[in-house]
Amino acid sequence: MTHPFTSYRKLFPILAETAQLSSCSQSALSLPVRQAIDDYLAVWQQRGADWGYWMEQVALACAEFARMIHADAEDIAVLGSVSDAASSIASSLRFDAGRPEVVTTTLDFPSLCHVWLAQQPRGAKIRFVEAQAGSTGTSAQIARAVNAQTALVSVSHACFYDGQLVDIATTGQAARENGALQFVDAYQSAGAVAIDVGAQQIDILAAGAQKYLLGIPGIAFLYVRRELARQLTPAVTGWFGRVNPFAFSPTQLDFADSAARFNTGTPPMMCAAVARASMALLNEIGVPEIQAYLAGLSAVALEEAARLGLEVASPADPAAKGSNTAIRVPGAAQLEARMLQAGYVVSARNDVIRIAPHFYNTADEVVGALRALHRLTH
Ligand SMILES: Cc1ncc(COP(=O)(O)O)c(C=O)c1O
Repeated sequence: MTHPFTSYRKLFPILAETAQLSSCSQSALSLPVRQAIDDYLAVWQQRGADWGYWMEQVALACAEFARMIHADAEDIAVLGSVSDAASSIASSLRFDAGRPEVVTTTLDFPSLCHVWLAQQPRGAKIRFVEAQAGSTGTSAQIARAVNAQTALVSVSHACFYDGQLVDIATTGQAARENGALQFVDAYQSAGAVAIDVGAQQIDILAAGAQKYLLGIPGIAFLYVRRELARQLTPAVTGWFGRVNPFAFSPTQLDFADSAARFNTGTPPMMCAAVARASMALLNEIGVPEIQAYLAGLSAVALEEAARLGLEVASPADPAAKGSNTAIRVPGAAQLEARMLQAGYVVSARNDVIRIAPHFYNTADEVVGALRALHRLTH
């Protein structure tokens, strides 16, 4: 399999020594990201405090994220984590007015489930769909669970455990037909799976920067459809959620006229500088092109795993999964450390080792990691 992005590999110094295949957890450090951190530190050292530069970095990061998901930058809020983004959305919903249910699945990232469970004292009832690893039927299961009682359908676009993709068009349609909203957790898809919030009629979508966005933790982007944002009033707020954060009026609680109303305190400026640089790189290459290449790597991974007799937890169809191919192994956490000694950065979760390449990885690296995994477990 040819690698269309070979020229970009030199931007990721780790690849000279080690095959980093852990984008479901942390992607490789790139030179543009390192430069963004250096620039941030240089501005701090030379200019002391430069609010103009800081706000510019946040605005540019929002613009890059918006470009990636085909949204307007004004429709993006900046929070500290996807969990914070979900809490902020939860705080703006009523669960005691005839629509108490949140529909989600047992394969959603636990943090999101915890946020919804924490709404129970406010009247929320959480309906867990029992999703199966490797399944291609989760979207239909979710759609069947939505009804007139549903306030929110919360779906993980790509699952953190097995990489399975949920068809957010199907689940979104079920939500709309029942008068509910859909929250898309895109932390495991943004940067690796094409997203178009308009074409896909997405209400709310959140993603952090650490995984396929090639950045670091400490920042998450929250898209809220404009008309919807205007109808929601978060109970979690701060000065950056105001019409003019720099008005400094302690007695006036005005909410910005877009998703910006979900901003809270001082945004994570350094993380924004990083995310601006990393997403500019992804947008330059193009997420649809990256997605197509990663589907090819998935096919390679699934074939090699089958040849080696490894137990795959992910869907067997490359089109039904994101980048992550999860392999069931005994002692996954210890194996992760031994894989590093063998030259492969992979990521353990529960009983699986996740092999999650990005556009800079080659088919040889994926095959090499699977062979190393086989060697270490047989
Ligand atoms: C799909 C998914 N959602 C949410 C999270 C948690 O995000 P945060 O730590 O930013 O709240 C993760 C972290 O791994 C994840 O994989």
